[in-house]
Amino acid sequence: MKTLRECVKEAADMGVAIGHFNISNLEGFHGVYGAAKKLNVPVVIGLSEGEEDFVGKSEAIGMIKEIREKENFPIFLNADHHYSFERVKASIDAGFDAIIFDGANLSFEENVKITKQCVDYARTVSKDKKRDILLEAEIGYIGSGSNIKESIPEGAGVLTKPDEAKKFVELTGIDMLAPSVGSIHGLIKSGKPHIDGALVAEIKKFTGIPLVLHGGSGLRDEDFTTAIKSGISIIHISTEIRLAYDEALKKSLADNPNETTPYKILQPAVDAIEKVVENRLKLFNGM
Ligand code: G3H
Ligand code: ZN
Repeated sequence: MKTLRECVKEAADMGVAIGHFNISNLEGFHGVYGAAKKLNVPVVIGLSEGEEDFVGKSEAIGMIKEIREKENFPIFLNADHHYSFERVKASIDAGFDAIIFDGANLSFEENVKITKQCVDYARTVSKDKKRDILLEAEIGYIGSGSNIKESIPEGAGVLTKPDEAKKFVELTGIDMLAPSVGSIHGLIKSGKPHIDGALVAEIKKFTGIPLVLHGGSGLRDEDFTTAIKSGISIIHISTEIRLAYDEALKKSLADNPNETTPYKILQPAVDAIEKVVENRLKLFNGM
Protein backbone atom coordinates (compact mmCIF):
# COMPACT_ATOMS: atom_id res chain seq x y z
CA MET A 1 0.00 0.00 0.00
CA LYS A 2 1.34 3.43 -0.99
CA THR A 3 1.88 6.04 1.71
CA LEU A 4 0.18 9.43 1.54
CA ARG A 5 3.56 10.98 0.72
CA GLU A 6 3.87 8.65 -2.27
CA CYS A 7 0.30 9.37 -3.42
CA VAL A 8 0.95 13.13 -3.22
CA LYS A 9 4.14 12.75 -5.27
CA GLU A 10 2.32 10.61 -7.82
CA ALA A 11 -0.51 13.18 -8.08
CA ALA A 12 2.02 15.95 -8.71
CA ASP A 13 3.78 13.88 -11.38
CA MET A 14 0.45 13.19 -13.08
CA GLY A 15 -0.71 16.82 -12.89
CA VAL A 16 -3.74 16.00 -10.74
CA ALA A 17 -4.74 16.69 -7.12
CA ILE A 18 -5.91 14.48 -4.27
CA GLY A 19 -9.29 15.40 -2.77
CA HIS A 20 -9.51 16.04 0.99
CA PHE A 21 -13.03 15.98 2.45
CA ASN A 22 -14.11 16.74 6.02
CA ILE A 23 -16.60 14.48 7.74
CA SER A 24 -18.50 14.52 11.04
CA ASN A 25 -20.03 11.06 11.07
CA LEU A 26 -20.33 7.66 9.44
CA GLU A 27 -22.64 9.03 6.73
CA GLY A 28 -19.87 11.40 5.71
CA PHE A 29 -17.39 8.56 5.67
CA HIS A 30 -19.61 6.39 3.42
CA GLY A 31 -20.28 9.30 1.07
CA VAL A 32 -16.58 10.13 0.64
CA TYR A 33 -15.32 6.57 0.52
CA GLY A 34 -18.14 5.50 -1.82
CA ALA A 35 -17.19 8.19 -4.34
CA ALA A 36 -13.44 7.52 -4.14
CA LYS A 37 -13.96 3.79 -4.52
CA LYS A 38 -16.23 4.27 -7.52
CA LEU A 39 -13.56 6.35 -9.26
CA ASN A 40 -10.66 4.33 -7.83
CA VAL A 41 -8.65 7.39 -6.74
CA PRO A 42 -6.81 8.10 -3.47
CA VAL A 43 -8.64 10.24 -0.96
CA VAL A 44 -8.02 11.99 2.36
CA ILE A 45 -10.63 12.21 5.12
CA GLY A 46 -10.22 15.33 7.26
CA LEU A 47 -11.25 15.89 10.86
CA SER A 48 -11.03 19.36 12.34
CA GLU A 49 -10.67 19.61 16.14
CA GLY A 50 -14.48 19.70 16.56
CA GLU A 51 -15.07 16.90 14.05
CA GLU A 52 -12.35 14.80 15.69
CA ASP A 53 -13.93 15.25 19.13
CA PHE A 54 -17.34 14.24 17.78
CA VAL A 55 -16.21 11.22 15.73
CA GLY A 56 -13.51 10.06 18.17
CA LYS A 57 -9.85 9.63 17.28
CA SER A 58 -9.65 5.87 17.77
CA GLU A 59 -12.97 5.30 16.01
CA ALA A 60 -11.80 7.28 12.97
CA ILE A 61 -8.41 5.59 12.87
CA GLY A 62 -9.96 2.15 13.29
CA MET A 63 -12.24 2.81 10.33
CA ILE A 64 -9.61 4.24 7.97
CA LYS A 65 -6.87 1.72 8.76
CA GLU A 66 -9.20 -1.25 8.50
CA ILE A 67 -10.46 -0.10 5.09
CA ARG A 68 -6.94 0.70 3.90
CA GLU A 69 -5.57 -2.67 4.92
CA LYS A 70 -8.51 -4.96 4.26
CA GLU A 71 -9.67 -3.33 1.03
CA ASN A 72 -6.16 -2.31 -0.03
CA PHE A 73 -7.50 1.16 -0.79
CA PRO A 74 -5.50 4.41 -0.54
CA ILE A 75 -7.61 6.27 2.03
CA PHE A 76 -5.86 8.47 4.62
CA LEU A 77 -6.75 10.41 7.75
CA ASN A 78 -5.75 14.03 8.34
CA ALA A 79 -6.08 16.02 11.59
CA ASP A 80 -7.27 19.24 9.98
CA HIS A 81 -6.67 22.72 11.45
CA HIS A 82 -5.27 21.86 14.85
CA TYR A 83 -4.46 24.96 16.83
CA SER A 84 -1.96 23.90 19.50
CA PHE A 85 1.05 21.63 19.90
CA GLU A 86 -0.92 19.60 22.47
CA ARG A 87 -3.73 18.88 19.96
CA VAL A 88 -1.23 18.06 17.21
CA LYS A 89 0.67 15.72 19.54
CA ALA A 90 -2.54 13.92 20.57
CA SER A 91 -3.45 13.27 16.93
CA ILE A 92 0.07 12.07 16.10
CA ASP A 93 -0.01 9.75 19.12
CA ALA A 94 -3.43 8.45 18.11
CA GLY A 95 -2.16 7.39 14.66
CA PHE A 96 -3.24 10.05 12.12
CA ASP A 97 -1.42 9.95 8.77
CA ALA A 98 -1.14 13.72 8.50
CA ILE A 99 -1.69 16.73 10.76
CA ILE A 100 -2.12 20.43 10.09
CA PHE A 101 -0.85 22.88 12.64
CA ASP A 102 -2.81 26.06 11.96
CA GLY A 103 -0.84 29.04 13.19
CA ALA A 104 -2.08 31.34 10.44
CA ASN A 105 -3.39 33.81 13.00
CA LEU A 106 -0.13 33.94 14.98
CA SER A 107 2.88 36.15 14.37
CA PHE A 108 5.41 34.72 11.89
CA GLU A 109 7.85 33.98 14.73
CA GLU A 110 5.28 32.25 16.93
CA ASN A 111 3.93 30.26 13.95
CA VAL A 112 7.50 29.11 13.12
CA LYS A 113 8.18 28.17 16.74
CA ILE A 114 5.13 25.95 17.29
CA THR A 115 5.22 24.50 13.75
CA LYS A 116 8.85 23.47 14.29
CA GLN A 117 7.91 21.84 17.60
CA CYS A 118 5.18 19.86 15.77
CA VAL A 119 7.55 18.85 12.95
CA ASP A 120 10.21 17.67 15.42
CA TYR A 121 7.66 15.58 17.28
CA ALA A 122 6.27 14.09 14.03
CA ARG A 123 9.80 13.16 12.95
CA THR A 124 10.60 11.48 16.28
CA VAL A 125 7.42 9.40 16.24
CA SER A 126 7.84 8.54 12.55
CA LYS A 127 11.34 7.24 13.29
CA ASP A 128 10.48 5.37 16.50
CA LYS A 129 7.24 3.83 15.26
CA LYS A 130 8.28 3.37 11.61
CA ARG A 131 5.51 5.65 10.37
CA ASP A 132 5.61 8.42 7.76
CA ILE A 133 3.64 11.26 9.33
CA LEU A 134 3.13 14.37 7.18
CA LEU A 135 3.14 17.73 8.91
CA GLU A 136 1.41 20.65 7.17
CA ALA A 137 1.29 24.29 8.25
CA GLU A 138 -0.10 27.58 6.98
CA ILE A 139 0.91 31.13 6.37
CA GLY A 140 -1.32 33.84 5.00
CA TYR A 141 -4.93 33.96 6.21
CA ILE A 142 -8.06 32.66 4.46
CA GLY A 143 -10.51 33.08 7.35
CA SER A 144 -11.94 30.23 9.39
CA GLY A 145 -15.10 28.14 9.63
CA SER A 146 -16.71 25.87 7.03
CA ASN A 147 -20.03 27.67 6.96
CA ILE A 148 -22.11 29.99 4.81
CA LYS A 149 -20.99 33.63 4.89
CA GLU A 150 -22.64 36.73 3.43
CA SER A 151 -19.32 38.16 2.29
CA ILE A 152 -15.58 37.75 2.78
CA PRO A 153 -14.90 38.27 6.50
CA GLU A 154 -12.83 41.24 7.67
CA GLY A 155 -9.14 40.39 7.75
CA ALA A 156 -9.43 37.24 5.59
CA GLY A 157 -7.72 36.94 2.22
CA VAL A 158 -4.21 37.90 3.31
CA LEU A 159 -2.19 36.39 0.46
CA THR A 160 1.00 34.43 1.13
CA LYS A 161 4.25 36.10 0.12
CA PRO A 162 6.54 33.66 -1.77
CA ASP A 163 9.75 34.81 -0.02
CA GLU A 164 8.08 34.52 3.39
CA ALA A 165 6.81 31.04 2.45
CA LYS A 166 10.34 30.00 1.49
CA LYS A 167 11.72 31.24 4.81
CA PHE A 168 8.90 29.53 6.71
CA VAL A 169 9.58 26.19 5.01
CA GLU A 170 13.33 26.46 5.61
CA LEU A 171 12.87 27.32 9.30
CA THR A 172 10.29 24.64 10.06
CA GLY A 173 11.03 21.72 7.70
CA ILE A 174 7.31 21.07 7.06
CA ASP A 175 6.21 18.46 4.53
CA MET A 176 3.38 20.46 2.94
CA LEU A 177 2.31 24.10 2.93
CA ALA A 178 -1.19 25.59 2.87
CA PRO A 179 -0.78 29.01 1.28
CA SER A 180 -3.39 31.74 0.89
CA VAL A 181 -3.84 32.18 -2.87
CA GLY A 182 -7.39 33.47 -3.34
CA SER A 183 -9.70 31.00 -1.64
CA ILE A 184 -11.58 31.66 1.62
CA HIS A 185 -12.91 29.12 4.13
CA GLY A 186 -16.66 28.62 3.75
CA LEU A 187 -19.25 29.33 1.06
CA ILE A 188 -19.36 33.05 0.31
CA LYS A 189 -22.79 34.16 -0.92
CA SER A 190 -21.32 37.01 -2.96
CA GLY A 191 -18.77 34.65 -4.56
CA LYS A 192 -15.13 33.84 -3.95
CA PRO A 193 -12.18 35.60 -5.51
CA HIS A 194 -10.30 33.80 -8.29
CA ILE A 195 -7.29 31.62 -7.51
CA ASP A 196 -4.09 33.46 -8.32
CA GLY A 197 -2.35 30.84 -10.47
CA ALA A 198 0.82 32.89 -10.88
CA LEU A 199 1.10 33.21 -7.09
CA VAL A 200 0.64 29.46 -6.63
CA ALA A 201 3.39 28.78 -9.19
CA GLU A 202 5.71 31.30 -7.54
CA ILE A 203 5.18 29.79 -4.05
CA LYS A 204 5.74 26.32 -5.48
CA LYS A 205 8.98 27.48 -7.10
CA PHE A 206 10.19 29.21 -3.92
CA THR A 207 9.31 26.36 -1.50
CA GLY A 208 9.67 23.21 -3.62
CA ILE A 209 7.24 21.25 -1.41
CA PRO A 210 3.66 20.03 -2.04
CA LEU A 211 1.02 22.77 -1.71
CA VAL A 212 -2.46 22.29 -0.29
CA LEU A 213 -5.45 24.41 -1.30
CA HIS A 214 -7.89 25.08 1.54
CA GLY A 215 -11.31 26.70 1.26
CA GLY A 216 -12.34 24.81 -1.87
CA SER A 217 -16.13 25.10 -1.48
CA GLY A 218 -17.73 27.46 -3.98
CA LEU A 219 -14.69 27.90 -6.22
CA ARG A 220 -15.30 27.78 -9.96
CA ASP A 221 -14.13 24.70 -11.89
CA GLU A 222 -11.56 26.80 -13.78
CA ASP A 223 -10.06 27.96 -10.47
CA PHE A 224 -9.43 24.35 -9.47
CA THR A 225 -7.81 23.53 -12.81
CA THR A 226 -5.66 26.67 -12.59
CA ALA A 227 -4.64 25.76 -9.03
CA ILE A 228 -3.69 22.19 -9.99
CA LYS A 229 -1.81 23.30 -13.11
CA SER A 230 0.11 25.82 -11.01
CA GLY A 231 1.26 23.36 -8.32
CA ILE A 232 -1.54 22.42 -5.89
CA SER A 233 -1.43 18.73 -4.85
CA ILE A 234 -4.29 18.39 -2.32
CA ILE A 235 -7.63 20.27 -2.31
CA HIS A 236 -9.87 20.66 0.75
CA ILE A 237 -13.68 20.67 0.53
CA SER A 238 -15.93 20.89 3.58
CA THR A 239 -18.83 23.38 3.46
CA GLU A 240 -20.27 21.88 0.25
CA ILE A 241 -20.47 18.49 1.99
CA ARG A 242 -22.08 19.96 5.11
CA LEU A 243 -24.66 21.74 2.98
CA ALA A 244 -25.46 18.64 0.91
CA TYR A 245 -25.89 16.58 4.10
CA ASP A 246 -28.04 19.21 5.78
CA GLU A 247 -30.37 19.75 2.82
CA ALA A 248 -30.79 16.04 2.08
CA LEU A 249 -31.44 15.15 5.72
CA LYS A 250 -34.02 17.92 6.20
CA LYS A 251 -35.80 16.84 3.01
CA SER A 252 -35.74 13.18 4.04
CA LEU A 253 -37.27 14.01 7.42
CA ALA A 254 -39.89 16.25 5.88
CA ASP A 255 -40.80 13.73 3.15
CA ASN A 256 -41.04 10.78 5.55
CA PRO A 257 -42.48 12.06 8.83
CA ASN A 258 -43.42 8.54 10.00
CA GLU A 259 -40.08 6.92 9.24
CA THR A 260 -38.09 6.02 12.36
CA THR A 261 -35.32 3.80 10.94
CA PRO A 262 -32.11 5.83 10.97
CA TYR A 263 -30.46 4.08 8.02
CA LYS A 264 -33.53 4.80 5.90
CA ILE A 265 -33.76 8.43 6.99
CA LEU A 266 -30.02 8.96 6.45
CA GLN A 267 -29.43 7.20 3.11
CA PRO A 268 -30.33 10.31 1.02
CA ALA A 269 -27.76 12.29 3.01
CA VAL A 270 -25.06 9.72 2.21
CA ASP A 271 -26.05 9.82 -1.48
CA ALA A 272 -25.95 13.62 -1.51
CA ILE A 273 -22.43 13.70 -0.04
CA GLU A 274 -21.29 11.02 -2.48
CA LYS A 275 -22.56 13.08 -5.42
CA VAL A 276 -20.69 16.22 -4.33
CA VAL A 277 -17.49 14.27 -3.69
CA GLU A 278 -17.70 12.33 -6.95
CA ASN A 279 -18.02 15.54 -8.98
CA ARG A 280 -15.11 17.19 -7.20
CA LEU A 281 -12.91 14.08 -7.47
CA LYS A 282 -13.58 13.82 -11.22
CA LEU A 283 -12.46 17.41 -11.67
CA PHE A 284 -9.39 17.11 -9.41
CA ASN A 285 -8.30 13.89 -11.14
CA GLY A 286 -8.87 15.11 -14.71
CA MET A 287 -11.63 12.55 -15.40
O1 G3H B 1 -9.86 22.50 5.92
C1 G3H B 1 -10.99 22.57 5.42
C2 G3H B 1 -11.18 23.27 4.17
O2 G3H B 1 -10.23 24.20 3.91
C3 G3H B 1 -12.56 23.47 3.72
O3 G3H B 1 -12.90 24.73 3.19
O4 G3H B 1 -15.29 24.77 3.79
O5 G3H B 1 -14.38 26.30 2.05
O6 G3H B 1 -14.59 23.87 1.61
P1 G3H B 1 -14.39 24.92 2.64
ZN1 ZN C 1 -8.94 24.49 5.70
